[in-house]
Amino acid sequence: MTWMQIKHNLLFAFARVFLTIKPRRSATYQVFGGDNSSHQLGAYIGRQGFKKLLIVTDKPLVDLGIVQQVLAGLENTAVESFVFDGVLPDPTFSVCEQGLAVYHDNQCDSILAIGGGSSIDAAKLIAIGATNSGDLLSFAAKKFKEDPAPLFAIPTTSGTGSEATAGAVISNDGDHKKSIISDDRMLPKASALDPLLLTGLPAHITAATGMDALTHAIEAYISELNFGDCREKGAAAIKIIFEQLPAAYENGADKGVRDAMSNAAYMAGQAINQVNVGNVHAIAHQLGAIYGIPHGLANAMVLPHVLKLSLTAARTELTEIAQMVGCNTAEEFIAAVTTLSERVGIPATAEKLNTKDFDLIVERAVAEGFGYGSPHLMTAEECHGILNKLLPQ
Ligand SMILES: [Fe+2]
Repeated sequence: MTWMQIKHNLLFAFARVFLTIKPRRSATYQVFGGDNSSHQLGAYIGRQGFKKLLIVTDKPLVDLGIVQQVLAGLENTAVESFVFDGVLPDPTFSVCEQGLAVYHDNQCDSILAIGGGSSIDAAKLIAIGATNSGDLLSFAAKKFKEDPAPLFAIPTTSGTGSEATAGAVISNDGDHKKSIISDDRMLPKASALDPLLLTGLPAHITAATGMDALTHAIEAYISELNFGDCREKGAAAIKIIFEQLPAAYENGADKGVRDAMSNAAYMAGQAINQVNVGNVHAIAHQLGAIYGIPHGLANAMVLPHVLKLSLTAARTELTEIAQMVGCNTAEEFIAAVTTLSERVGIPATAEKLNTKDFDLIVERAVAEGFGYGSPHLMTAEECHGILNKLLPQ
């Protein structure tokens, strides 16, 4: 056993004790689902007595009319809304500072995120800054003291699961290195999973975000931490995604399919909220930071390779998952993941990858992976090997 493995085992022995004493929440306080559930959430926010709601979103969702569709649900309430639509993919601390300024300028008392993981994660950090002094970057390194401002979430993709998690991934402005900020108090107070907001989602985004949700579900299921109902939620999500993702990709206008996928993404989010993600995310975060590869796409490309690394340590769990989706063995399941990726148009290799960056990617990915409960502790050599497989042939 290497020194790294000994340190990792000690760390996770402590983590198990900590999680036994203080388990992570597995659900938001209130979830609205089905057609026009975003309006139900709007009415709920009104009933809670909030008066000035900051909307955290991105310009494309404003241009597509999605934000206006949601805001129509506030018309018969006393809630006034103020839109910050400056969120960009992989939001930075400075983007969040801009949103926080809109919150303070309008003396808001609550926040509603409308969007994918970028908007929901940015809103989580803005909510912390709304009630705690200090610049937002400081919360990457220290615990915040006061409870964040009340946060609500409406996901417009079925992937990130951020509406069900107590964490946010925010990028540094300079080097785009990602910081993970996590605290149970960051969990949204309520969410709406409204399929009517998802029917126009482009096929390539449906594919990438759906594979992100699948990665969450698998990484939670095989996590050595195995706390709470992470396996039940992960298993349910895996089955739905295998059945429904091709249909969502091919016929995104089908509300029933969109409803199923948003529930799967939510359950996968609940699963990682209890045991966190794993080595797939440890690598994918670096590919996003350095090359801007969309998060779900990076996960999808890395996923089969990391699963092969986990075959020995997680054969039992991978075989269980295999049988859920009609395969016999762990190897067959990994092949089925690759087939699913291909079917929804995910490439096997990354054009942007450059070997000159490999040492940096490996250093950061191995360090990040050390803190996850992946069944196999990834070495630098193994990470290098995966990156080589992602190079265009
Ligand atoms: Fe993810």
